[in-house]
Amino acid sequence: MASKMFLVTGGAGFIGSAVIRELILNTDYRVVNVDKLTYAGNLESLAPVESNERCYFEQVDICDAGEIKRVLNKYQPDYVMHLAAESHVDRSIDGPAEFINTNIMGTYTLLEFCRACWSGLKSVAPETPKGVDQYRDLIMFVADHSGHDQRYVISAAKIERELGWCPQESFDSGIRKTIH
Ligand SMILES: NC(=O)c1ccc[n+]([C@@H]2O[C@H](COP(=O)([O-])OP(=O)(O)OC[C@H]3O[C@@H](n4cnc5c(N)ncnc54)[C@H](O)[C@@H]3O)[C@@H](O)[C@H]2O)c1
Repeated sequence: MASKMFLVTGGAGFIGSAVIRELILNTDYRVVNVDKLTYAGNLESLAPVESNERCYFEQVDICDAGEIKRVLNKYQPDYVMHLAAESHVDRSIDGPAEFINTNIMGTYTLLEFCRACWSGLKSVAPETPKGVDQYRDLIMFVADHSGHDQRYVISAAKIERELGWCPQESFDSGIRKTIH
């Protein structure tokens, strides 16, 4: 049986290329990379996997509904990882249209066609694994995190020291206003 197929958008970008390298080099999944190759796309980052027979490439704009439909029909992916984006935020000031097209309309286009494919599947519920009667049996309960996790605390000491900033609310007064 053929291995599962991943469709990765933006696979020539920083994050997408790392994902594809990982999938091809360390699993037996097949991967189709859907990338428009904007200034941010760089196929050289896929050099270690480009000749792999489980790795496919489609130069496609995710905003192009006809092309997205064709690619989904052709590869019938089991999983979609959407990593195509206009990601360099400083560019969004001079050229916001590309950001709106790719990040909003492109994402919407991709989601709509994925939903259409998903709705067309005979059964959308995966089979329960062997020895498991119902999915509820797989739920594993873990202890809650403590409410105030010190690892994520931001220190305001520098801004207080250098700019004289001070908060208008203490934790106690803020929480009282937040939770009624
Ligand atoms: N880089 C990070 O540290 C980081 C951290 C958190 C989240 N993210 C998010 O991960 C996603 C990918 O980030 P990245 O750093 O890999 O970005 P990137 O700019 O390096 O790559 C984006 C890729 O998308 C492609 N692309 C752009 N528009 C397209 C379109 N219309 N159709 C098809 N392909 C298109 C480009 O050619 C490029 O290969 C973004 O949503 C980003 O916000 C990135």
